[in-house]
Amino acid sequence: MRSTTPPRTYRVKSFGCQMNVYDGERMAELLAEQGITPAPDGEDADLVVLNTCHIREKAAEKVYSDIGRLRREDGTSPLIAVAGCVAQAEGEEIMARAPSVSMVVGPQAYHRLPQLVADAAAGKRATDTDMPAATKFDVLPTRRRAGATAFLTVQEGCDKFCTYCVVPYTRGAEISRPFRDLIQEAEALITAGAREITLLGQNVNAWSGEDDKGRAIGLDGLIRALANLPDLARIRYTTSHPNDVTDGLIAAHGEIDKLMPYLHLPVQSGSDPVLKAMNRSHTAESYIKVLERFRAARPDIALSGDFIVGFPGETEDDFAATLDLVDAVGYAQAYSFKYSARPGTPAATMDGHIAAEVMDDRLQRLQSAINRDQMAFNTSSIGKTCDVLVERHGRKPGQWLGKSPWLQSVHFIGQAQIGDLVRVELIEAGPNSLSGQPVPLDAYSVS
Ligand code: SAH
Ligand code: SF4
Ligand code: F3S
Repeated sequence: MRSTTPPRTYRVKSFGCQMNVYDGERMAELLAEQGITPAPDGEDADLVVLNTCHIREKAAEKVYSDIGRLRREDGTSPLIAVAGCVAQAEGEEIMARAPSVSMVVGPQAYHRLPQLVADAAAGKRATDTDMPAATKFDVLPTRRRAGATAFLTVQEGCDKFCTYCVVPYTRGAEISRPFRDLIQEAEALITAGAREITLLGQNVNAWSGEDDKGRAIGLDGLIRALANLPDLARIRYTTSHPNDVTDGLIAAHGEIDKLMPYLHLPVQSGSDPVLKAMNRSHTAESYIKVLERFRAARPDIALSGDFIVGFPGETEDDFAATLDLVDAVGYAQAYSFKYSARPGTPAATMDGHIAAEVMDDRLQRLQSAINRDQMAFNTSSIGKTCDVLVERHGRKPGQWLGKSPWLQSVHFIGQAQIGDLVRVELIEAGPNSLSGQPVPLDAYSVS
């Protein structure tokens, strides 16, 4: 049974990428502005927002099991809103398949969530998957809460149309948020406690705008302006496209201390014919050349990437080229996925779909190569002294968890608070984290 009482408490569950995490926070802020409060841990919420991801079939199907799980023992359900990329792609289907869902709201329409909630509480089901010309950002409330690290969407949407990918359809065309708005939002996040800001965009290095003096700037100009904010300690950005890397962005890595030595640059495959079929518009060689330029500007930069195995038509030789690329780059970490056919994308109807066992085998081989390099990278960090930005308590008494400049998880025991930058010596490495030992500041001399 669908609920029709005005909600007093909410819970937002976000899946998928960091932009969905950001959107989830913004939706929570909107609901809080309506006087709806977060449901305490372990308690049912009156309103549940499922902020979904459509990138692979498994992620998309998950929404239906999640909706089923929200049904209470007495047969009632909370008010349910499905938001995010599945909402955008399959709004009508969700409404038809899941009668307990009251609201479907797309990634460019969620600023209208309060109205949808009011309508739903009055018994009206509604879908809002418009992509209005006026952006949601203009009407979202000011940021008032932030942890030590915060996300800030600066660019959204994608015009690249890689043949496997749903994002250009679910997020729409590329837009860059105006410079002034971003500085203001960054300032609000810093006031709320953020020490590190990660700039987000599906294609973040395509951001462009005008600074206060009306000069055209790119992402590097935005990063330079943010670096001038005194209480901001660290800046990161994700995700970049190899073809939109500029000289200015590469130079920024050599010049701006607050810009962390980390780059996530998806490649997807090491085989040129596969890259062509994917419409990636770069080759394995041009990708590696870009990485070499980053390394020249910032020799210690940690590199990360995304890979898809089993794209239609991928041969064993194509896959071998991917393994060669991994060997050539030496990633500090990377993400790899089995190709998932997405309805409406060009690749879904291409010939040469790859058998599941073959994909499993390739994924396993790729992941063991990536894990080997990740372990080697972590091991090579032993003995280094670096700042760790403290994000939370660890499990042991006196233990703290945070990130190194190279985005490795580091735990240490010592005096600290969330948001502190603690100087540690890295003493032990595991595959996914390192342990450190705080270094007294007077024992550390800056050369
Ligand atoms: N440019 C965006 C990509 C988001 S999707 C961004 O980079 O943030 C993240 C990753 O998911 C992609 O880089 C790709 O490796 C993977 N991916 C996208 N579509 C996929 C599909 N149909 N099957 C498997 N993996 C996919
Ligand atoms: Fe998808 Fe390609 Fe755009 Fe990334 S660049 S969001 S993979 S279409
Ligand atoms: Fe998923 Fe949409 Fe992000 S499909 S990866 S939530 S942009």
